[in-house]
Formats: sequence, C-alpha cells, structure tokens
Amino acid sequence: MDSIGSLGLQQGEGAPGCPQEGLPCPSNSSEMVQECLRQFTVTGAQLRQIQTSLLGSMEQALRGRAGPAPAVRMLPTYVGSTPHGTEQGDFVVLELGATGASLRVLCVTLTGIEGHKVEPRSREFVIPQEVMLGPGQQLFDFAARCLSEFLAVLPVGNQGLQLGFSFSFPCHQTGLDKSTLISWTKGFKCSDVEGQDVVQLLRDAIQRQGVHGIDVVAVVNDTVGTMMGCEPGVGPCEVGLVVDTGTNACYMEEARHVAVLDEDRGRVCISIEWGSFSDEGALGPVQTVFDRTLDHESLNPGAQRFEKMIGGLYLGELVRLVLAHLAQRGVLFGGHTSPVLQSQGSILLEHVAEMEDPSAGAARVHAVLQDLGLNPKPSDAEWVQRVCVAVCTRAAQLCAAALAAVLSRLQHSREQQALQIAVATGGQVFERHPRFLSVLRETVMLLAPDCDVSFIPSVDGGGRGVAMVTAVAARLAAHRRLLEETLAPFRLTREQLAAVQAQMREAMAKGLQGEASSLRMLPTYVRATPDGSERGDFLALDLGGTNFRVLLVRVTAGGVQISSQIYSIPECVAQGSGQQLFDHIVDCIVDFQQKQGLSGQSLPLGFTFSFPCRQMGLDQGILLNWTKGFKASDCEGQDVVCLLREAIRRRQAVELNVVAIVNDTVGTMMSCGYEDPRCEVGLIVGTGTNVCYMEELRNVASVDGDSGQMCINTEWGAFGDDGSLSMLSTYFDASVDQASINPGKQRFEKMISGMYLGEIVRHILLHLTSLGVLFRGQQTQRLQTRDIFKTKFLSEIESDSLALRQVRAILEDLGLPLTSDDALMVLEVCQAVSQRAAQLCGAGVAAVVEKIRENRGLEELTISVGVDGTLYKLHPHFSSLVAATVRELAPRCVVTFLQSEDGSGKGAALVTAVACRLAQRTRV
Ligand code: G6P
Ligand code: BGC
Ligand code: BGC
Repeated sequence: MDSIGSLGLQQGEGAPGCPQEGLPCPSNSSEMVQECLRQFTVTGAQLRQIQTSLLGSMEQALRGRAGPAPAVRMLPTYVGSTPHGTEQGDFVVLELGATGASLRVLCVTLTGIEGHKVEPRSREFVIPQEVMLGPGQQLFDFAARCLSEFLAVLPVGNQGLQLGFSFSFPCHQTGLDKSTLISWTKGFKCSDVEGQDVVQLLRDAIQRQGVHGIDVVAVVNDTVGTMMGCEPGVGPCEVGLVVDTGTNACYMEEARHVAVLDEDRGRVCISIEWGSFSDEGALGPVQTVFDRTLDHESLNPGAQRFEKMIGGLYLGELVRLVLAHLAQRGVLFGGHTSPVLQSQGSILLEHVAEMEDPSAGAARVHAVLQDLGLNPKPSDAEWVQRVCVAVCTRAAQLCAAALAAVLSRLQHSREQQALQIAVATGGQVFERHPRFLSVLRETVMLLAPDCDVSFIPSVDGGGRGVAMVTAVAARLAAHRRLLEETLAPFRLTREQLAAVQAQMREAMAKGLQGEASSLRMLPTYVRATPDGSERGDFLALDLGGTNFRVLLVRVTAGGVQISSQIYSIPECVAQGSGQQLFDHIVDCIVDFQQKQGLSGQSLPLGFTFSFPCRQMGLDQGILLNWTKGFKASDCEGQDVVCLLREAIRRRQAVELNVVAIVNDTVGTMMSCGYEDPRCEVGLIVGTGTNVCYMEELRNVASVDGDSGQMCINTEWGAFGDDGSLSMLSTYFDASVDQASINPGKQRFEKMISGMYLGEIVRHILLHLTSLGVLFRGQQTQRLQTRDIFKTKFLSEIESDSLALRQVRAILEDLGLPLTSDDALMVLEVCQAVSQRAAQLCGAGVAAVVEKIRENRGLEELTISVGVDGTLYKLHPHFSSLVAATVRELAPRCVVTFLQSEDGSGKGAALVTAVACRLAQRTRV
C-alpha cells in the first residue's frame, strides 16, 4: 500500500510532489529531499513553545480541575519514595508493553547491600501479532504461560514469590496493586481490557494457567521501574525517562500539588503519559504530512500524537513514509518503490539506528537498504541517512522539550531555580541510537540552562526498579495483611451484633427480675416524662461527664432558661476521699450561687450523678461502684444524696434542698422528652456510656405496682462483666482493662466510650509498631505513654476532609515520624475501633427499643432516643453508624435520635420540677 499514494491529499494541502501547503514546489531532487528534511527541522522557538505548553498541561492536570481534558494525564503511581536500598529478596518481574511485541520475565535478587548486585535471570518471549490485537484474556493467558515456562527452569523455589507487573500503558492506579487500563498504545489493541484492573486480569490468568506460589503485589509503569532502578549511589534519580517503542516519563512531584491525592507532605511519583500531548498550537507547526499519515494509518488515529513523533515504534515508519514519498517522486531509488516501501512497519527502529549511525558509512546504509529489498543508487544512501538523522534528531529534540517541561515543573514545585537532578533513561531508542542521548542532552541544556541534569542509563531496562517497587509493595502488602489480621476482630458481622443484641435482651430480662445479670436494670423512680406543666427555678448539678457543671434552670410557660458554670474535678479529688469530693462540689455550688446572686436561697436541687446507683427513691441513691476514672473513697455503698447533704451541712450557712438524684441518661431523656414526648430512651456515649428507657412497671420485680412505667437505668457499661462478651474481647481490650483503675469492670463501656477508645488505638499502634508494620518498627517513649492518644484524635483523624493531614499533624505532635502508608494505617485503626464501638452501641439500642416494642405488643414502634456525650456528638461517623445498626437489627422500630442541647442538667431540673409538682399535689 503506497501510503504516500494513499495520502489522499486534498487540494490546498500541497500539490503532488509538494508536501507542504503554501510552500514553493522544489524543482529538483536534492531540493525535494531538502524540503522533506526541512520539515523535520524544529526551531528553538517551537521547542520552547512545546515545553511551555506541555508544562501548562502538566500543571492543569495536577490541579485536577474540571474543564477541557489536559493533553497529558499526570497519573499518580503510589510510589512515594525512591528506594532505600534495604530491600531484599527474590522477586519476579513480568514486563509487558515496554519493548513492543515482546514480553520479558525476570527474576531479580535484591541483596539490600549497597553496590552488591546479583545478575537478574531473564527471558524474552515474542508476542504474536494476533495476541497483541486479540481478546484480552488471550494476551494475559499468554503472559501467564510465559511466566510458567520461566519459573519452570528457575533455580529458586517458586513458592511464595512476589511478582511485580511492569505494564507500560496509561493506567489509573488506585493502589500499588490496583490499576485500570485507560487505553492501549504502541501496537496493542486487545479487547475487554480497557477500563479493567490489569492486575486482576493477570491474577485470573495465572490461576487459569495453574501457576502456583506467585503473588502479584505491584503494577508499575516502565518509567517508574526505570527511575527506581537507579543505583542509590548514583542517584537518587527523580525522573524516569523511557524512549522505547513508545515514550513517557515519570518524576517525583510534591504530594501537596497533586489535587487527587489527599496528601500535604512528601512526594509521589507521577507518570506523565506525555505520549498523548497534542496541543495543536504547539505541535501543529512541527507536524509533517508524514506524521499525519502515520497517525491516520495507525491503530489509534488521533491518539498518542506526540509519541508517534518520538517512539521507536514509529521512527522507522516515518522514515519509510518519507522514503516512499521521495521514491514516488523519482528522487530516490530511481523512482522505484518496493513491497518494503509499500508495507507499513517494514522499516524498523534497528534499521534506522544502523543507517542513522554516523559511524555507519554509506556502504552500511546501502547494505541495510538492500536487505530491505531496495536497489539503492550510491547517492541514495547518503539521502536516506540524512532522512534517518532528521527523523531521529527531531525525536530527540521533541523529547528534550518534554523533559525540559518536567525540569521546569520541578523548579516550580520545589521553588528551586538552580536544579540538580538525575534522570534515569531506559529503552531501545537510547540503547540503539547513540546520537539520541547527545541530542537530547544538548537540547535540554538549551531549554533548561539552570538545570544540572545527569542522565543515568538504567542497567536492565528497569527490571531492578520494578523489583524495588515490588519489594516495597511486598513489604506494604505484608504490613497490610498484618494490619488486617490485627483489625479483623474489630470487624463485627451482623450475626455477632445480633448475638450481642440477644444477649443484652436476656441480661435485661434477668436484671429486671433481680436475677444475676451484668445489667443491673436500676429503677430510677422517674415514672413519667415531663408534660410541660412544670414551672419554677431549680439548681442542678451535673457530675460524671467530661465537665462538672452547676446550673440554674428556670422553667416557665415560655420554656426553659439555663445559666451554668463548668468547674473542674481534679483527678486527685475524683480519686481522693469522698468527703473531699463532696466538699469540692459544695464549694462549686456556693461559688455559682454567689455569681448568680442566689446566695442564701434554697432552691430545689436536682443532682445528675452519672454513676451506677441503686435508688430507693427519687432522692436516695446508693453508689454501687465508681466508673470512668472516679475512685473517691468512702462513697461506694453510700447514699450519695446523704453525702451531698452532709457536705452542705459541713459548709454552714448554705441552704440547699436536694430533691432528686438522676443518672445522666435519665436527665438526657427528660431534657429531650421536654421537646419530644416520644422520647422514652436516654443514651450517653461520652466519657462513659449507658442507656435508660421507660419500662413497664409490671416487668420491674424490685418495684411494687403493675401499672404504668418507670425509667430504668440499665447501666449497660457493665454488660459483659460476667464474661458474656469474651468472644468479642480482643487482646487490646484486655490490655486497656488491665491498665484501668477498675479492671474486669465496665467491659462493654471499655469497648465503646470515649475514655477508652484512644487507649485501644494506642495499644493497637504499639502492637503494629512492634511488628514493624508502623513507624518502621521504632517504638517511641511518647506512644508508650498512657492516655497520650486522645479519643478526640479519632474524631479528628476520621473527619472526611484532610484526613491524612490530620493524622500527620496529630502523630507528629506525638513525636512519631510517619510515612504516608503509616498515616493510612493509623486512619484504618481508628476507623475499625470507632466502627466497632458504634455498632456495639447500636446493637444495645436495638435491644432496648425492641424490648419496648414487645412490651407494648406493637407491630411497629416509633420512638425517640435522647442522646448526649462528646464521642457521639463530635465523632464524624459514630451517630450514623449507630443509627444504621439499629435500623439493621430493629427494623420494626422507627427510631429518631435527638441530640440533647442542654445536657442532662436541664433533665435533672425537670425531674425535680415533676417531683415538686407531684409533692405539691399530694400536699394540697
Ligand atoms: C453531657 C451531660 C452529662 C453527661 C455528659 C456525657 O454533658 O450533661 O450529664 O454525663 O454529657 O458526656 P461526656 O462526653 O461529657 O462524658
Ligand atoms: C505508554 C506509557 C509507557 C510508554 C513507554 C506509552 O505508550 O502510554 O505508559 O510508559 O509508552 O513504554
Ligand atoms: C456510668 C453511668 C453513666 C455513664 C455515662 C457510666 O460509667 O456507670 O451511670 O450513665 O457512664 O456517663
């Protein structure tokens, strides 16, 4: 096929024999050849324009903004660091696509010793054309068979060998071992592969071919393999440049400049995919009719235009088109064309390399042309050589313009004017065309004079580099497996959660009947939720959460006004003597009264006391045991209302009328019930956790009466203290429990609430560090410090925006040096711990609302749950996970979660108001 004949040139595109529109038609042969050669001449200005335009496309693609698709793709490769050189082991590398119609399998041994190299064993396989153009499955089966053949003769046992897949095509990578092919290039056009994860396709083929013991852990673009293959001593190379059948480059970009990545530190390797650069403004002027013909007749017309002017797959074709054109014009070969000149792809890179080589005299060129079935005249050889030089020189110059754009980008991104950089080069064009590198180097010096660039030829085509990435990937994959093993017990199944729900129901029933149960199901003597008729001023205390608060609550027809003051409870007071604690409480009340101008007034007081109390009445509560870091002496077994009254007495001149003691769950239920009468459950997920709900009095064995309801404080924090949760408890839960001031107690609370989640995470991080999975195995004093990893860090780290940056900021404050992989793993640890907590909490709420539904014999129950607590309120996903678990486990209950605005102090005041109203009524 005479491509020139078939140029199908339209009028105005240059008359026959005149290749370029608007250019004078050369009168004689040499002029005609000169004219062709002139077309391949690119000016400095044109190269700079290409450099600028390519840089523009690179930066547009990095910003990832919407708008016209940038000419280059700028694909993150998940390679975040250049090799440490410490990587060790035998790794298999499968290379597909770098060198056109061949596939290479290597076994690379990394010694981890600088300068000590073991020669890789490798084998090349030719890929039949029909495989390169056939069904994708056929191609991957072919690759797997080659792998199997190679492994069959490999002296190293191939059990558990890790494989790095060097796949040299544009791919969206979403992980070191997950990569979706965007489009084929370079003579490949297999069906059913574009848009697919090529690692999975290879894994499936390896399985189909029965190749065992091979674990594909990384997929790498050949430019990355070339860059990573750079000897640490020489480099590190921070740019990988490949000119083989195709062309492309990668480089280390500041992660913060890559919009699609949520990273603000460190660097990430970007595969530019500059082969698709096609800015008409910059490229148009240097494209010849031969380029357009080549593109038109290629497998992917309109795509990879830049590559088709540089890549080794195309240089021979460009030369053929020019020679065919000149032959048809009678300028070369006596005007005789030949089947070679007619057939596409017949002049190969090696032909051009040989003919272009200045040391190859006319005789050598003559011989090559004869091998191609041509009958060259003596003058032809010199013209042909010049055509080869023109085509290759332009390729090297265009490549230089592209590389200069990368250097400019590096200067920008590193804010460095003078840049010293090592570029790893790989590919047949470099190996076969001695002049290519020198033209490239000279042109780069012209276009990027401030950059001191050293070119480091990659030793084995990037195989070692791919092995390095594979080693890193293998290490990360091993780390990921260890992370998954560590976190697996935190990933609760629906069955496990349903079992918790069922066990909690059973424990509730037993507790209500006064049988042995880890749920005490404590009657609270709150019989009704507020009905809105409450009125008056009340003092309220709120002890047991993050803050101790004293409140003045004014209940009027118009609603409730609250003024409050937060006071701290120092640890020495919370864990000192009971007298000291209650004296401190009274001191705060007196201070509050003075500030509120209430001194001397004896307002009814409601006391939110957020600890397990057995109540015999509204104003009597025996503290069963402290929880949440409180351990004041001489209080457990005491009536805390008495303790408060004694403290008031000790502080003469203070009049206070303690009317009610309520648990914070009850206060929260009442507080929300004031707004929504359907609120019959109170849930706290804060420092501690607990739930109360309105139970049918007939079910409460310890309280007389069969009609009506009473609020029951379940004290679910202690659920599982009888060992019923042991199947869910992990080594880390046991460590946190052992280190707590109440070991063996509050097991459910210790898996859910804010006082403990940070500690669970810290213990997991210590464990993963000891396995070498995190922080390069370096244990730091800080991380060994109790409570140093606050639960609020989980909320910050799991916030959707800026996650990895938060992780870094938090962990660097803890003096932990971390890599981006570390950051991701810490995020996953936090997610696993908080997700389990929310799901367990959800299973508990599902048990309670299902109990209420069944109590009332309802098909469907609509109910509201009043919630308070820092963890529930501040954690970005906790509340939605709780709600989702409740929907899953109690589908016949429509549950609305109401976040309490005013805390349970208001609730305590309302309970007091109800008590006062009831007391008043009995008095009249
Ligand atoms: C609110 C309530 C307190 C409750 C606390 C629990 O502040 O008013 O009664 O104890 O929430 O949450 P926290 O996160 O403070 O432990
Ligand atoms: C591919 C690149 C590859 C380059 C060099 C191009 O066709 O799109 O991914 O790096 O060839 O092999
Ligand atoms: C206490 C409960 C309280 C919960 C939430 C638990 O430790 O035992 O009484 O409701 O914390 O504050």
